[in-house]
Amino acid sequence: MKGILLAGGAGTRLYPATLATSKQLLPIAAKPMIFYPLSVLMLAGIRDVLIISSPSELPRFQRLFKDGSHLGLNMTYAEQPEPKGIAEALLIGAEHIRDESVTLALGDNVFHGHHFSDTLQDAARDVQGCVLFGYPVPDPERYGVGETDGTGKLISIEEKPQAPRSNRAITGLYMYDSEVLDIAKNVRPSARGELEITDVNHHYVQRGKARLVDLGRGFAWLDTGTPEALMQAGLYVQTMEERQGVRIACLEEVALRMGFIDLEQCHRLGRENAGSAYGQYLLSLVPA
Ligand code: G1P
Repeated sequence: MKGILLAGGAGTRLYPATLATSKQLLPIAAKPMIFYPLSVLMLAGIRDVLIISSPSELPRFQRLFKDGSHLGLNMTYAEQPEPKGIAEALLIGAEHIRDESVTLALGDNVFHGHHFSDTLQDAARDVQGCVLFGYPVPDPERYGVGETDGTGKLISIEEKPQAPRSNRAITGLYMYDSEVLDIAKNVRPSARGELEITDVNHHYVQRGKARLVDLGRGFAWLDTGTPEALMQAGLYVQTMEERQGVRIACLEEVALRMGFIDLEQCHRLGRENAGSAYGQYLLSLVPA
């Protein structure tokens, strides 16, 4: 399975913090925001990751991850000249996807929860149609909203509906089978001029091939869209990390756990960053 990370959008609600840099590079606790959704792809077992961003921001992501080999990944990069919708990422990534299944993750979505890695790997193992991830929110009208038949099969999906049929927000993590490119090619721009990911998903729903994995209570899907939400996300991560003594979305640790790198490489990365608490944490993962 291939992975795509979309780091688009102007981050207007975060101005002026986003005036000179991309929203997905702002820190949540000690890490750039994009570490969090990248860790999700890695936990799903994905090693081939395409990062898509605007022409001005893309070089920053290249500087951050290079070719990904230090994490046992194969990272590639592509430009989205203008923010024309999430579904455009699939078209931009056509060469990357080829005829494989793909997971698309939005670069500003932060997930945290027990056994998430198992949930992801179970879902990724056999994607027939599409697998979406739902989370109960008090304000579903701000999101894509899904309704299921009780067995997890989606029976309706709407983008930012005025009268939501459920409180299940569709999060920014989408798994698709190899038919997704044909579907995305036929999506027409919406009233706001964008290729909506909800229209791609709607296609699968109509054919009875869309499944919703309920993330439910006890799980955290964090908002990062406003200065307040960003601060709260940082506090959440910091609180959990301090209390549990482990780091969330530490890419080197995830790579080690997934078997993408060995202990020696983890130690090397720790040594390179030994001046930071993050580097010290990496060193602590390697038995003396
Ligand atoms: C996008 C999607 C929406 C989804 C949300 C998740 O909305 O269109 O369906 O629920 O991401 O973050 P946007 O954040 O672009 O308004």
